[in-house]
Amino acid sequence: MKILAIAGSLREKSYNRGLVRAARALAPAGMEIIEADISDIPLYNGDDDGDTQPAPVLALAEKVKEADALLFATPEYNYSIPGVLKNAIDWMSRVPGGIFAGKPAAIMGASMGGMGTSRSQYHLRQVLVFLDVHPLNKPEVFVSAAHEKCDDNGDLQDEKTREMIGKQLEALKVWAERLGE
Ligand SMILES: Cc1cc2nc3c(=O)[nH]c(=O)nc-3n(C[C@H](O)[C@H](O)[C@H](O)COP(=O)(O)O)c2cc1C
Repeated sequence: MKILAIAGSLREKSYNRGLVRAARALAPAGMEIIEADISDIPLYNGDDDGDTQPAPVLALAEKVKEADALLFATPEYNYSIPGVLKNAIDWMSRVPGGIFAGKPAAIMGASMGGMGTSRSQYHLRQVLVFLDVHPLNKPEVFVSAAHEKCDDNGDLQDEKTREMIGKQLEALKVWAERLGE
């Protein structure tokens, strides 16, 4: 089972990219997690959106198409999802064929605040409704005070959080298998 992980941060030492690295290490047998690169996705401009979309958008869209499921790791910016993540999703939603429709997904997120991206995750869920993505409901992974749970490179050091991620990935596997039947 191939999972495409999309982190909503471009920061090299991002806690959310750290969550994706932790997820890669914790993936259950039979699951491979690949991290998407959204750093080269241009800002959405309708003038560049016609019969085709910019090459980085099409390349990422291919990876979404090939994936059996998606894994989002989102920060929280002003109680919502970061612009870079929304921008990447918006561009890919313009690729003909509805690449997101029917995809299973899991959502996790790390922030420095006390709510652990719960508000941004629920905004992301709303966006996914229109794209017809099927996010896993439970277990949820909200990583609060991420600066205390990750080291200076953004790598997750907290055992309880690793456990939560492992459980979510197990549930995603079952969910994706169920939807793929
Ligand atoms: C513009 C901006 C808005 C932010 N808003 C929130 C917020 O609403 N809630 C929160 O918990 N943290 C907020 N933060 C702090 C982020 O949690 C923190 O920058 C986090 O490290 C971002 O994730 P990353 O490490 O993956 O880049 C904000 C940071 C920025 C730059």
